[in-house]
Formats: sequence, C-alpha cells, structure tokens
Amino acid sequence: MDLIIRQAKLRDQDTLVDIGIHDGSFVKIKPNINDNATKEINANGNLVSPPFIESHVHLDDALSVGSPRFNKSGTLQEAISIASDRKTTISIGEVKQNATQVIKWLVANGVLKIRAHTDFTPDFTKLKAILEVKESLKDIIDIQVVAFPQEGIFVQQNAKMLLEEAVKMGADVIGGLPQAEITREDGIEQIRYIFKLAETYDKLIDIHTDETGDNQSRYLEVIAKYALRYNMPGRVTASHTTALHNYQNDYAAKVIGHVKEAEMNIVTNPFSNAILQNRLDGYPKFRGVTRVDELLDARINVSIGNDNIMDPFGPLGRGSMLQAAHLLAHTAHLTNNDQLNSLFSMITNYGAATLYTEDYGIEVGLPADCIILDAKSQCEAIRLTSECLYVIRRGTIIVETQPAKRTLRINGEHHDVDFKLNQH
Ligand code: FE2
Repeated sequence: MDLIIRQAKLRDQDTLVDIGIHDGSFVKIKPNINDNATKEINANGNLVSPPFIESHVHLDDALSVGSPRFNKSGTLQEAISIASDRKTTISIGEVKQNATQVIKWLVANGVLKIRAHTDFTPDFTKLKAILEVKESLKDIIDIQVVAFPQEGIFVQQNAKMLLEEAVKMGADVIGGLPQAEITREDGIEQIRYIFKLAETYDKLIDIHTDETGDNQSRYLEVIAKYALRYNMPGRVTASHTTALHNYQNDYAAKVIGHVKEAEMNIVTNPFSNAILQNRLDGYPKFRGVTRVDELLDARINVSIGNDNIMDPFGPLGRGSMLQAAHLLAHTAHLTNNDQLNSLFSMITNYGAATLYTEDYGIEVGLPADCIILDAKSQCEAIRLTSECLYVIRRGTIIVETQPAKRTLRINGEHHDVDFKLNQH
C-alpha cells in the first residue's frame, strides 16, 4: 500500500480503524490492517473525515477589501457598487493571484471541493481568471465555476448574451440574481431564462435567491416551480434565501414544502448574511439567516458557504468551514447535539450533495480524499474550529499542520493547556 492511516476515528463509529490507501483510492478500512505501506501516519484517535466542501464562495472578489474603497455602510448595495467600480481596473493576473492565495487557505483548512460564483460581466476578466485557476490547481482541488450575473441580467446591456457565452466558455453551473432586476416580472423572466439555458447545455443551477430582508421578495417559490417543471432533483440550488426568515409562517411553510418536493438544495452563508442583511432595520434587527432548522427538519439538503473572504461584502475570513459552521450554530440557534452534528454534515456530505458530486466519502473504492482533524469528534471540531493536521488528496498528503502548543506558568510551574476535553 502507499499509505496507511492508523487509529482513525470515523464519524458514527466507536471503534478506531486503520485506513489503507493505494493508487489514489481507499482500499481497506478496518481495525489493525496488517499490510505494509510506503508511509504510515497515526491519527491517534482523531476524527478522520471526508474533506470539507465550500458550497458558495466568490473567489473573483477575494482579498479585494479596500479596493477601490472600503464599504462604509456595510450594506449589500454599497458592496455591489464597490465591486462594480473595481471591475473597471482589475486584471486577470490580479484576480488569479488573490484567488490562488485564498484557495491555499481553503485547502490548508481541509477544503477540497469549491463552488465558485464568478461574475462574468462586463468582459469575462474574472471568469477567465477563475477558469485558469481551476485548471492550474486541478491536482489539489476541484472547483465548480458558476456564471454569476452580479448586477442582474436584464438591467445590464448584453448580459443575457454574455451568460450564454460564459456557459460556452466552461462554466459548470448557471447562476442568477433575480432580485437585482428592476421589476418582479423581470426577475421571473431571469429565472425562466436560466432554466432554459440549463436545459440546453445540461448544467446545474445555483441562484442567489431572495438575498434581502424584504419579506415580499418571493423568488424561491418561482425557482421551486421551475425545478419541478424541468424535473431537476438535486440539481437546483437556492443560495441565501434570507427573506425566508422574514416570511409570514404559513407562507414560509408552503414554500419550504415546494422546495422539498422539488428536491432543491439551500446554501446558507453565515458570515455575509450576518453582516449584510437587515442593515436598514434600525432596532430591533432581524437576523439575516434563513430558516435552517425548519429546512433541516423538512429533510431539505442545506449546506454552508463562506461567500466572501476579505472583500467589499465582508472584510474578514480565513477560508475556514468550521468557523462558518461555528457562527451558524449561534445565529441559527443550532446547538443541540443533533443540530451540531448536522452542522458538520453541512460542511461535508450535504455540501457534496449541493455540488452534485459523486465519489465522495471514506469508503473502499472511492478516491482517497480525506482530512485528519485535531479533534476527537464533530462537536469538538466545531467548538474549537480545529486545525486540519493532515489533508490528503488522491492518497497524497498535501497539507501537514503542527498544532499549537501552549504552556502556562503558575507559581513557577509549567502547565500544558489543551482546549480539547475529548468529550462527545
Ligand atoms: Fe454569494
């Protein structure tokens, strides 16, 4: 064998196992593998998980915070205006450099699959850059590129034609932003066009949906209608759906029912939703987070994105899915044991379902992609936003991290301080 991981703790298994890897695939998973291997590493009972999935990120804007200016109001509207102004000066090289830097952060944090929403207007600069990055880094990470109309389709000259061109250039997913149109009718027309295009080119769909606190923003029902009409189970995603939070409860229940029936995915973005939504509320302020608990209870696939990493939409971030899950635990009230475990699923297998990806998981015969966390359980990983001790891609170790060592002095004596309690 090429590699054996000893003493691995898998999710939902009490007994530690060894994991044998050969030719880039998992070949044996059982306690005490007797085979020899070229290399062995010991997980020491730490959690070994399939890699994290970043379901929604804008690599094309990454690290652009302050360029050309900072977002003073913190609103989505000002962020879009700044991103729009930046498009007049950016180069392919700059976008590639920033995206590559953030991808390194994501990979070091255990992410091996990304869905990257990428603005294709006005001239494909960002799209070309991200497609080039996708190709150049394909050995370490899978990137799905979404053709994303940041400023709408019908409000921009040529944007409708450019969207089709973006798909022809290699976008994997068709994106949208219906609430950017001037009228509701145009928003519906945008959704109609996206589904038609997706049918023509056999593409997935991921639409920025009702990303507003306005409880009259009701595009989720329209997307569910077309997802049913075109019969696309698992292939249609609504990102954000923050307005759903503010709907009247009877209507919210009706829409959630249609989303379930259409087998759609929902992506929630805890950082940007918390920052951007309900800025104009005054006090009290609603939380800008969709109804994650109700969606999960309805057995709808929900996953998590960082969305923005140091850009006009959100100035912070370091590409950590655990940090995003940690924030969502607080903003969406997901703190019982089942919900904490669901949070871990939302950044692993639920994310893989959103990306409509196969070959994901730690099973014999599947590609040997996995991470070893500096934590004994899912809850501990979220609580501590743990480091990834190892990231393994197709059987090759591509990241090794030394955990921090802390020593405390009390009355002249040295004490090691470990935040891990090995509970749960
Ligand atoms: Fe987004």
